[in-house]
Amino acid sequence: MKIFTTKETLAQYLLQTRAMGKTIGFVPTMGALHAGHLSLIEQAQQNNDEVVCSIFVNPSQFNDPKDLEKYPRTIEADIKMLEQVKCDVLFNPAVNEIYDDNEQWHLNTGELEYLLEGKFRPGHYQGVTQVVYKLFNIVKPDTAYFGQKDYQQFLIISKMAEQLNMPVKLVMCPIRREADGLAMSSRNIQLTAEDRVHALILSKTLNRVKDSFDRNKLAELKQEADRMISKEPGVELEYFEIADGDTLHQANEKTKNIIALVAARVGITRLIDNVLLVHGS
Ligand code: PAF
Repeated sequence: MKIFTTKETLAQYLLQTRAMGKTIGFVPTMGALHAGHLSLIEQAQQNNDEVVCSIFVNPSQFNDPKDLEKYPRTIEADIKMLEQVKCDVLFNPAVNEIYDDNEQWHLNTGELEYLLEGKFRPGHYQGVTQVVYKLFNIVKPDTAYFGQKDYQQFLIISKMAEQLNMPVKLVMCPIRREADGLAMSSRNIQLTAEDRVHALILSKTLNRVKDSFDRNKLAELKQEADRMISKEPGVELEYFEIADGDTLHQANEKTKNIIALVAARVGITRLIDNVLLVHGS
């Protein structure tokens, strides 16, 4: 695997790749890789000639400096994993390679960035769109791959790419779960053994909502979900919403795409998860 730490050397290499007529698939990450990330790389490998993965813990998307400080960093293990799955290129820049000192600008993607996650993590999606915009400009991928676990992130990045006419196709890949249902996340490393047990309430609740979706009103499903999560010890619910999958506004019985999304703190760790309830139109 080729490893680049500067945007110039990476861009130069990819220029040659493109000149050979090869397509480029891109998987942006913040490292602490797990099987969920690897499934994105596999998907990228199936559909592209060359696959680039980036590992960059992006400071501008952390609204809480303590969260940035404790974000897991496991670069050596990550490189091994990427080599094992035969990823072609790793881009692993330092912060000053991506940002100038005190750089500040705002990319307006409309109200999506202020809902749900946006309410609880003010400024988070500004940081995400900034870095993804920069990474897309450096890598210029044909296709970029993101996980469904960050569903709102996918909607906002799609909106950005559409608004700015970025010539990239975006693919959302299914959530990968541990055998007991916990959604894979880099943050799971932070869970204690006890937290790990309590954290299962998130996927259990989403499954319950999915299973009883056809028999209950949306308001009843939400009420039951709030009740299940709120009574789980060690879990502090931030939101559970049954939303329109396109706008993230509250869904109603006529909504075409419906998704249930949850965010909660389990011990010191903030987790998110979701399940598509109605999808396809
Ligand atoms: O999903 C993530 O890991 C990050 O938000 C991303 C897209 C790599 C941007 O930093």
